[in-house]
Amino acid sequence: MSYQAKFRVWRGDEGRGELTDYTVEVNEGEVVLDIIHRLQATQAPDLAVRWNCKAGKCGSCSAEVNGMPRLLCMTRMSTFEPDEVVTVTPVRTFPVIRDLVTDVSFNYEKARQIPSFDPGGTAPGEFRMQQVDVERSQEFRKCIECFLCNNVCHVIRDHEENKPEFAGPRFLMRIAELEMHPADEADRRNIAQEDHGLGFCNITKCCTEVCPEGIKITDNALIPMKERVVGRRYDPVVWLGTKLGIV
Ligand code: SF4
Ligand code: F3S
Ligand code: FES
Repeated sequence: MSYQAKFRVWRGDEGRGELTDYTVEVNEGEVVLDIIHRLQATQAPDLAVRWNCKAGKCGSCSAEVNGMPRLLCMTRMSTFEPDEVVTVTPVRTFPVIRDLVTDVSFNYEKARQIPSFDPGGTAPGEFRMQQVDVERSQEFRKCIECFLCNNVCHVIRDHEENKPEFAGPRFLMRIAELEMHPADEADRRNIAQEDHGLGFCNITKCCTEVCPEGIKITDNALIPMKERVVGRRYDPVVWLGTKLGIV
């Protein structure tokens, strides 16, 4: 069944913009990205939107639909009433380039700052992992880098000034993944706490709620990482070493 839906889409650039109203056809089985594409084809050929796979796997089409961080290609039109106004806006935490496209380079800068996997002296093929360690890493590896978790975290969503000190849940999860990897020999606890702002996270779990891959970011990465940081801080050997200035 087809119907005419009311859409409000944010149009503008980094300087200024506004919500623009459209009435547009919707067909059975369509997702919000289909409707944005129909707008491009029929009424707004210059409407900018970033997308690639249309299958929820590339992480490109992140935006906010009726104020909720979503992948446009995975948000079914059937979740809205036919007479409901559907408002589509760019993700709020990153600067707008044009219309629905934002500059997410913050995330790539943070990714570059995280020291990579450190196998120490272990040669490739020497190390055998337990299945439980494989499964832990695999959960984190489902990340499609849509950055919806970073977009929704209040530490940077409402506080631009925190961005230099806070990597966001996606990259704190990456640090936790490496810290919990049995073959990684680097100590990631100071890196998480001092360099990437783990202490800013007050476990609101908004990141976990919006993750389209269903990764338990808070419970399986951030909280275990916090426990390790606290464990280090209250380790008597570390305490003595800190006092003596050798740790
Ligand atoms: Fe997206 Fe989830 Fe990865 Fe965050 S952890 S970037 S929400 S897939
Ligand atoms: Fe932010 Fe997630 Fe922590 S939303 S405050 S990183 S639990
Ligand atoms: Fe790839 Fe939506 S277009 S996740």
